[in-house]
Amino acid sequence: MADPQEVLTQRVQSALGAAFGADYAETDPVIRPSQFADYQANAALALAKRVGRKPRDVAAEIVAHLDVADVCREVEISGPGFVNLTLREDWIAGRAQELRADDRLGTPRQEPRNIPIDYSAPNVAKEMHVGHLRTTVVGDALARTLEFLGHNVIRQNHIGDWGTPFGMLIEHLLEVGEDSADAALLKTDPNAFYQAARVKFDGDEEFAARSRGRVVALQGGDAETLRLWRDLIELSKAYFNRIYATLDVTLTDADLAGESTYNDMLGPICDELQAKGIAEVSEGALCVFLDGFTGREGKPVPLIVRKSDGGYGYGSTDLATIKYRTEELKADRIVYVIGAPQSLHLQMVYETARKADWLGDTEPVHVQIGNVLGTDGKILRTRSGAPIRLMALLDEAVERAAKVVAETRPDLDDAARAAIAREVGIGAVKYADLSISHDTEYIFDFDRMLALNGNTGPYLQYATARIRSIFRKGGLDPAEATGPVVVTEAAERALALRLLGFGAAVAQVGDTLEPHRLCAYLFDLAQSFTSFYESCPVLKAEDPSVRASRLALTAVTLDTLVKGLGLLGVTAPERM
Ligand code: ARG
Repeated sequence: MADPQEVLTQRVQSALGAAFGADYAETDPVIRPSQFADYQANAALALAKRVGRKPRDVAAEIVAHLDVADVCREVEISGPGFVNLTLREDWIAGRAQELRADDRLGTPRQEPRNIPIDYSAPNVAKEMHVGHLRTTVVGDALARTLEFLGHNVIRQNHIGDWGTPFGMLIEHLLEVGEDSADAALLKTDPNAFYQAARVKFDGDEEFAARSRGRVVALQGGDAETLRLWRDLIELSKAYFNRIYATLDVTLTDADLAGESTYNDMLGPICDELQAKGIAEVSEGALCVFLDGFTGREGKPVPLIVRKSDGGYGYGSTDLATIKYRTEELKADRIVYVIGAPQSLHLQMVYETARKADWLGDTEPVHVQIGNVLGTDGKILRTRSGAPIRLMALLDEAVERAAKVVAETRPDLDDAARAAIAREVGIGAVKYADLSISHDTEYIFDFDRMLALNGNTGPYLQYATARIRSIFRKGGLDPAEATGPVVVTEAAERALALRLLGFGAAVAQVGDTLEPHRLCAYLFDLAQSFTSFYESCPVLKAEDPSVRASRLALTAVTLDTLVKGLGLLGVTAPERM
């Protein structure tokens, strides 16, 4: 086991059991990084009351029973009863050496759970916006990380592919022709197609009437209408997939599970809710009223499951997602990566599902996505006030990255520079979405996300490229830098200790569903490497065994940065 916190936890727990009896062997010894040692165990303070002794005496008992001779070189009681623990250099080196041979880099496999993740979810015939960008990027990082931890991740792209606008969209598609240039807009500029349909719908009463008829035909399962609807979906899929390919996101057609998937479930869901007395008709609509969900002046807020016109809304489709994911996908945990403003909606959906007995032991979690704003602090728009086209935004990121690469690598040819610019531009945008906590608002700022210093994608990508260049300069292959690792200098020790924390950082992302924690870890690691590289010569180390050890630490750092970025969905160019 590589993670010192985990190892020390077990050792202190054994000591607690030996000192105070088996009941205490499960107590959390509260091992935390310390400024006076590597770690401190804070258990004594909390235990004092329970065992009726002074904290310092409890600490002394712990130390008397603690068997850490192979792990720690110093154990010391300080203050009111902290136990300070300083690791042995040979223990750190031994664990770092193990990392060198471990393709999981010290990340334990967890007991596999079934985890559907609902993310991305753009709407058919609509432009994806920066909000969709963020759920796509965060959801994909979570999917990759949970998969790496050993879970069975089931990607669920809940696209908006159903509802009243489809009458108007189908009628417009029929008028322009399925193979027309106008229809092809769906693949490149879906808003233009939508707007054209909308203009007709608003200005032409006859078109509007036909559109309404279309909705009825669509819901009634009319074959020709369904064929046209499928055509719309196909064209939109081409647009989504182009964005996903550009973003290097793992979603494929197999992951599509749009709103329409749940059509057959909606009627029975309403019936069941009504039969169980959970839903009631109010002003013509079928509603669920839940305790504690009130709006202004204490007025109860309903979850509408069937509208007064008989249509089903967002409430019923999301209830269906819960039922399907628990019953069919056997979900242990359902992750919804959706905008923060949907929080109330989802809470009502969970609560209703719980009442209807559809949730069982499944744990639903809302990974709240905060708004993305422009540099003016308002919802991001183009200068003319129109919504930003996502593809144009990504193109701009790559273009700006190209300017950076032209300056840093004038020696490379155009094709090589263009390839690097793509990785840097896209990596910068993705990393910016991931590096701050997913529920905070943030300002979309190209200059900041493309900066080569600070907690940015390009900074970390550059850190990996620089390490590769060290090996290139030495005419060496990182794979052959196998050590043995020896730890003597303070900067070597700090770097090795940091490397031991990778598995814990990854596991933490799995538990908290917060990718920014992995970003913070990688940023710290890159900084530890910089300090190490500044104070410890690697290629120029005189003693061959010191050189071999430092090369091995350098190689583990490279592997860890590349693996970590990979879990976030960010690639690391070979050169930069
Ligand atoms: N299509 C919706 C939108 O663009 C997001 C759907 C999120 N997923 C869900 N299960 N409700 O706003």
